[in-house]
Amino acid sequence: MQNAFGEPQTILLLGGTSDIGLAIVGQLVSPTCRSIVLACRNPDAAKAHVDTLGSDGITVTAVAFDAEAYGTHAELIADVVAKVGDLDVVVMAFGVLGEQSDYDNDPVAAAKAVSINYTGSVSVGIAVAAQLRQQGHGRLVVLSSVAGERVRKTNFVYGSSKAGLDGFAQGLGDALEGTGAKVLIVRPGFVHSAMTHGMKAAPFATTPDKVGEAAVAGLRRGRRTVWAPGILRYVFILLRHVPGPIFRRLPLG
Ligand SMILES: NC(=O)c1ccc[n+]([C@@H]2O[C@H](COP(=O)([O-])OP(=O)(O)OC[C@H]3O[C@@H](n4cnc5c(N)ncnc54)[C@H](OP(=O)(O)O)[C@@H]3O)[C@@H](O)[C@H]2O)c1
Repeated sequence: MQNAFGEPQTILLLGGTSDIGLAIVGQLVSPTCRSIVLACRNPDAAKAHVDTLGSDGITVTAVAFDAEAYGTHAELIADVVAKVGDLDVVVMAFGVLGEQSDYDNDPVAAAKAVSINYTGSVSVGIAVAAQLRQQGHGRLVVLSSVAGERVRKTNFVYGSSKAGLDGFAQGLGDALEGTGAKVLIVRPGFVHSAMTHGMKAAPFATTPDKVGEAAVAGLRRGRRTVWAPGILRYVFILLRHVPGPIFRRLPLG
């Protein structure tokens, strides 16, 4: 259960090696925290993070999680709850970006990216929501993206998966209204992380730590949505309404 300052005792990070996810978790750690679970494809790869986050009062464990193994998601959540108790904050930070030019010639790769980013999120998100509803408290933080706000031709496979995810998270948040559980949607722009390594930065590029700050501030204020950086909210209010013929010519990368 979170204390009066919104400091959680238990945190589950789905995508346990995500740069953004780890930045959010790092900023949620307080003297109140006692258990952190990093759920990742390869738990051994999270060893350094287990060591960094762990301390006298905090137990950190890494468990196996594959976004595409839908049949395992309910059991994963049940196992984590059996280990640490009620989930105060669950951060959903897994995902793949990929290159649109590769997807153009590879329908299987395109479908796999959507399966991870969208279908996997729906599957594990439903399992998390069932647990939070039953607890009567808890927050699910969903890493959406501005890429889903208005999908661009240069990354429409990724963007469409994020548009789907964002819609799912909005609907889930509304469905949980009155249960005590809540959803926070985080919409970052370009973030310097492993996902974007080597890519040309987009305008208003930010860092995992800044996204972490925005997410934690959003959690503490009880927000439903945060943008990172905040100015992107206004940029996308405009971009959403730009007529198609003009939008298609904008140099948005
Ligand atoms: N970076 C950006 O510019 C940006 C902008 C907006 C939104 N986002 C979103 O923010 C989230 C975190 O991104 P990030 O920048 O932190 O990227 P990241 O460091 O590359 O993290 C991505 C994470 O997803 C995990 N993952 C990939 N496929 C998976 C699967 N099938 N099952 C389970 N986990 C899987 C990766 O695990 P492995 O270590 O096993 O590969 C990794 O932990 C993503 O949802 C991303 O779409 C990122």
